[in-house]
Amino acid sequence: MSQVLSQLRAHAAADFLPLQGTDYVEFYVGNAKQAAHFYKTAFGFQSLAYAGPETGIKDRASYVVRQNKLTFVFTTPLRANNPLADHIYKHGDGVKVLALRVEDAEKAWKETTARGAVSCLEPVRQQDEQGEVVLSGIHTYGETVHYFIERKNYAGAFLPGYQPWISAYNPSETGLQYVDHCVGNVGWNQMQRWVRFYEEVMGFKNILSFDDKDISTEYSALMSKVMSSGNGFVKFPINEPAEGKKKSQVEEYLDYYDGEGCQHVALATHNIIETVTALQSRGVEFLKVPGSYYEDLLDRVGQIDEDLAPLRELGILVDRDEEGYLLQIFTKPVEDRPTLFFEIIQRKGARSFGKGNFKALFEAIEREQEKRGNL
Ligand code: FE2
Repeated sequence: MSQVLSQLRAHAAADFLPLQGTDYVEFYVGNAKQAAHFYKTAFGFQSLAYAGPETGIKDRASYVVRQNKLTFVFTTPLRANNPLADHIYKHGDGVKVLALRVEDAEKAWKETTARGAVSCLEPVRQQDEQGEVVLSGIHTYGETVHYFIERKNYAGAFLPGYQPWISAYNPSETGLQYVDHCVGNVGWNQMQRWVRFYEEVMGFKNILSFDDKDISTEYSALMSKVMSSGNGFVKFPINEPAEGKKKSQVEEYLDYYDGEGCQHVALATHNIIETVTALQSRGVEFLKVPGSYYEDLLDRVGQIDEDLAPLRELGILVDRDEEGYLLQIFTKPVEDRPTLFFEIIQRKGARSFGKGNFKALFEAIEREQEKRGNL
């Protein structure tokens, strides 16, 4: 026992970047007011905080919404000719900031920049009457950044500079709980570079790898490696396109996002049937696999707690690994460009990512690509 404890202590000491989880995800969007409305109406997020001209921020407006441990920020520029406006012109709506909660944001910045990270925000202390936060940030793939958020001495709704957003419109929640993982799409031959970045700069481990033999359909292919923080609280799979007969879905993303970026954010639920029923009734559109997927499903994954009928009706996928099983479903892109989408996931022991569903899923994506003329 003492040996196990000392190994655990050694591992904790070796983790130079202990992450407490995802703090928030910030999206740069063309119209933050409407985006926030969509995420409230369709996904069941609740109004939390606001910053903009009324709070002394002159160049942008940000709406913060929350559901359980999920915090999303939608930010839009108020004028042209600034980096925020340029970002949206180039990429369309997308994820800009994957913010990570830390005990010490200055130390996180020092540890990562000393290992080669490029700073995007030097450690800065922000205060208001609710206390103090420390923020810092580094660049990752494309124009995406990681912020480190230290908020242990802060009691406010979100961050200094924001005021509580009290709204008369409060649609009910849909059971979404927390960020399970965030996937990045990187360019041809860039996978190893970003695997090394997460290993060397952030102390992550490569816990799973899929090559083009695992993830290829008749036409298109991709490779994927799952990077996990030392304590497993933060997982960032990285995708790279692979050669296929036709255009990889990752390549389509890179074309339309005009570069590397966040492909999907996986949102965990404790009851995927209830959550997806609610999301569909509120207009969230999901990829559909053929009904034949369900004919031999139980032969493939064994006994599961859920009835098959609602899974089939909703289009929820199931996969099993050595530790248990998982249920998952993927939305269509949530903007007009075929870029960012969401995954809804419920884990029942499984810690993997649904490898058994890749083929059916990617064929569903290809049908959508074909409709867009991009296959
Ligand atoms: Fe995923």
